[in-house]
Amino acid sequence: MTVSTANKVVLGLQWGDEGKGKVIDMLAGSTDYVVRCQGGANAGHTVVCNGKKTVLHLLPSGALHKEALCIIGNGVVVDPVALSEELASLEGSDVNLEARLRVSDRAHMVLPYHKLLDAANEAKRGDKKVGTTLRGIGPCYGHKMSRQGLRCGQILLDNFEDLLRSQLVATNKHLKELGEDGFDIDEMHAQVLPYCEALRPYVTDTVALLHEAVKEDKCMLFEGAQGVMLDIDFGTYPYVTSSNTGVGGVVTGSGLNHKNVGEIIGIVKAYTTRVGEGPFPTELDDAGAEELRQRGGEFGATTGRPRRTGWLDLVVVAYACRLNGMDSIALTKLDVLSTGDDLPVCVAYELDGQRLDTVPASLEDLARVKPVYETLPGWSEDISSCRSYDDLPKAAQDYVRFVEAQTGVRVGYIGVGPDREETIVCPS
Ligand code: GDP
Ligand code: IMO
Ligand code: MG
Repeated sequence: MTVSTANKVVLGLQWGDEGKGKVIDMLAGSTDYVVRCQGGANAGHTVVCNGKKTVLHLLPSGALHKEALCIIGNGVVVDPVALSEELASLEGSDVNLEARLRVSDRAHMVLPYHKLLDAANEAKRGDKKVGTTLRGIGPCYGHKMSRQGLRCGQILLDNFEDLLRSQLVATNKHLKELGEDGFDIDEMHAQVLPYCEALRPYVTDTVALLHEAVKEDKCMLFEGAQGVMLDIDFGTYPYVTSSNTGVGGVVTGSGLNHKNVGEIIGIVKAYTTRVGEGPFPTELDDAGAEELRQRGGEFGATTGRPRRTGWLDLVVVAYACRLNGMDSIALTKLDVLSTGDDLPVCVAYELDGQRLDTVPASLEDLARVKPVYETLPGWSEDISSCRSYDDLPKAAQDYVRFVEAQTGVRVGYIGVGPDREETIVCPS
């Protein structure tokens, strides 16, 4: 498989879990650096290589390629406990990250108290809960924005233990104000410290390192986490994550600039899923949703939660393309649609008799829109062994062409199965 050597960004264009991990792994074989720029261990990126499945949460999905340098950029929120566990889970495999993992000294740390705050906030919201992954992501970005956070670089300071202790005291007070029990400060201090120590060797100025790499003409792959509809600004707020999941997050989360970004590849699942709460216009009803969930194996890679499922929503995809200046789309899980049944695809919304061609900002409006569907003919052939566009049945080709026509973006890759090899690269 030949891929270009330009820098690339991989972004999810729906509500996450589009299959980014697979595409990143596929592209990582021909890159020098794989860079995570936002999110944290809320991500669950699945890589399947020769039938062996690995799910990565904080480590970039290029980790399985022995050459690629793995960078956790300044925009990521790093959980030292989760990272330690993830590194340990790879021990015994032939993946050795000791020499090729770097963590930004500017990245904020997610500590166990952020998870307690996450759970407390969710409980307080009651039936308006976001349905977070409970990985402490929102509270950690909250501390970052309100200038109260702890950054990875501070681990290297002589007074780190004191800094940690004052964070623990302040957060314990906050938890108690929320009506929670709080925690034992000495106990948590003793629990967290070894994990922070273990992070030490990886912490470095990744901004300087990446700028140096640009000078040396190194090839970079920026790994998006979550998806555009979970973006804090452009997604279904407040049912979103706490970072910018689009191309803006790549720039602010790596320290490189827009000129370094290169080609932008959007990952689009051939249908739609979301985990957690919030509006989802093309969501299927119970029986239909369950059938698609089972066919697609739609259970969260991080939390194991059943994903909500629905038809492809091209209003969402076109909106995400416009926001991020897409060069091409990787259309994943096309094989899951091989049922022979007709395939409704949402091309617009209708709200109070008006046609909408974009995603409204108002959550209340989005919850009320009725999808306008075009129904495309299905196919029943097993397409998992197709390796070129011409191998696909005509109806599957037409489905791909329809996505291109509606978004104005070329489909460059088609996923026909979870394995690295189960991919069609479309000639440009
Ligand atoms: P990510 O978060 O975007 O990396 O996606 P996840 O890993 O959370 O979920 C995508 C799921 O779909 C994983 O189980 C992948 O192994 C699987 N997958 C990815 N691409 C394809 C594909 O083209 N076909 C099929 N059948 N499964 C795929
Ligand atoms: P990847 O990278 C799907 C969702 C959660 C919840 C909301 C907020 O694997 O695509 P958070 O824990 O971030 O505060 O939760 O965002 N969410 C994801 N959904 N894929 C993800 O990551 C997600 N990361 C967060 O389910 O609705
Ligand atoms: Mg995922």
